Amino acid sequence: MNAHPAPPPPGDEHDTVLVVDFGAQYAQLIARRIREAHVYSEIVPPTVTAAEIAARRPVGIVFSGGPKSVHVEGAPRIDPGVYELGIPILGICYGAQLIAHQTGGRVDRSGRGEYGRTTLVVDGDGGTLLHDTPAEQPVWMSHFDAIVEPGPGQRPTAHTADAPVAAFEDVDRGLYGVQFHPEVVHTPHGQQVLERFVLDACGARPTWTMASIIDTSVDAIRRRVGDGRAICGLSGGVDSAVAAALVHRALGDRLTCVFVDTGLLRLHEGDQVVETFHRHLGMELVTVDAAERFFAALEGVTEPEAKRKAIGELFIRVFEDAREQVEGARFLVQGTLYPDVIESGTAHAATIKSHHNVGGLPDDMDFELVEPLRSLFKDEVRTLGTELGLPDEIVWRQPFPGPGLAVRIIGEVTPDKVATLQRADAIVREELRVAGLERVIWQSFAVLADIRTVGVMGDERTYGWPVIVRAVTSEDAMTADWARIPHEVLEAISSRIINEVAGVNRVAYDITSKPPGTIEWE
Ligand code: XMP
Repeated sequence: MNAHPAPPPPGDEHDTVLVVDFGAQYAQLIARRIREAHVYSEIVPPTVTAAEIAARRPVGIVFSGGPKSVHVEGAPRIDPGVYELGIPILGICYGAQLIAHQTGGRVDRSGRGEYGRTTLVVDGDGGTLLHDTPAEQPVWMSHFDAIVEPGPGQRPTAHTADAPVAAFEDVDRGLYGVQFHPEVVHTPHGQQVLERFVLDACGARPTWTMASIIDTSVDAIRRRVGDGRAICGLSGGVDSAVAAALVHRALGDRLTCVFVDTGLLRLHEGDQVVETFHRHLGMELVTVDAAERFFAALEGVTEPEAKRKAIGELFIRVFEDAREQVEGARFLVQGTLYPDVIESGTAHAATIKSHHNVGGLPDDMDFELVEPLRSLFKDEVRTLGTELGLPDEIVWRQPFPGPGLAVRIIGEVTPDKVATLQRADAIVREELRVAGLERVIWQSFAVLADIRTVGVMGDERTYGWPVIVRAVTSEDAMTADWARIPHEVLEAISSRIINEVAGVNRVAYDITSKPPGTIEWE
């Protein structure tokens, strides 16, 4: 299993806490919470050996939760040598049970199991993790098995109705466990528990701050690129924007950004990129107006996968042409994030859509890659972007698919249809922004259908295009729900689109979650 290739080390000046991922969706969240305590954290698979962990020299280790029972065959284990390294370990949920199970305690199906909000009762002084939290407090639980007897030397520090050992510690061996999930927001004192572990039990130095991330990255980029030159494809999205701003800080005008205007962008998006990066931040910027080439490539293409393929291929070609204008660039900057690094290692099921990422260029392009965001989470990237002087409109931009509006126009893509959709889309986003819903909503946009419907305007019959409004809430785009937008806002969107966008005479709202729908229509 190679699900968690390591990002580049953050430099010796930062202490590291490793999170062993036992298969729950919580491992990333745990790592993020630890970083919120200003301690660098990375995720490793359960197959990691004690020797591999020792080589990374972490100051602490966290075992995440996981979906299995320690008693079932194939349940993930950790190399028992890890307990002998003298590095403090915190087990969470399955992780706590695993510690008890592997060190002489007993884990059993004790009662009904606990799911959701549960009251935790602190025993005695609460020990290292709980001593400064209330004697009774709500925590988030999700377990069937429970630790019924801790291992030798492990002192229970809290219990609940169904978990006699809901927290334990063995300070001498550096073993800590909590049955509840301190990383979720439903555990109000959870962040304190994690901080007590990393700062007190592990003695980690809280050096992982934005200023230190910038300094460390700038040094690393300078070391890697030396006196060479780099180019960066800008998509207008937050990841490539922050990567470019960071590399610009390190290399100045030895970085040239390339922005390909595919003609499939949102209203005024191209102008905004030029304004921000060239005029405002003073970066070298090559803009390629390739709209005609993209429309030509899309002529007569209606099948969604065929559209994606045509756009992806042409993008590479255009980028290669633009590269000729940037002499001697050997390095290519990409905005790969830590979740991409983690996820690219996992085996994927069926291809639902072939994703084309602007800037996601093929390996054989003969560049050396510079990926300065490879160890960062999205929220860290946003904070970094603000720190580097990028405007809110870029830093808080919603995700936008690489193939752009082409996958929001059903049927053939033409310049006229793009212009129609751009206007409708701008209205959707503007009305949601005015209603203060912009950051609550993961993505909001308009889709242009290739059917026409009958309507009546000013006593005249109309025969026009319907626009479908799509707005979803989501954590990570893997699942999504349709946003419960107030009816007044939907009304404003509908009436403005029909009045302001010629050719459109009907507006529908998409109330499909993902699954079964996807977020985009194609
Ligand atoms: P779906 O439509 O599959 O999309 O639910 C999930 C998320 O991915 C975005 N998306 C893309 N992003 N290149 C991208 O960079 C693509 O080809 C692409 N297709 C979809 C989509 O907007 C949503 O956020």
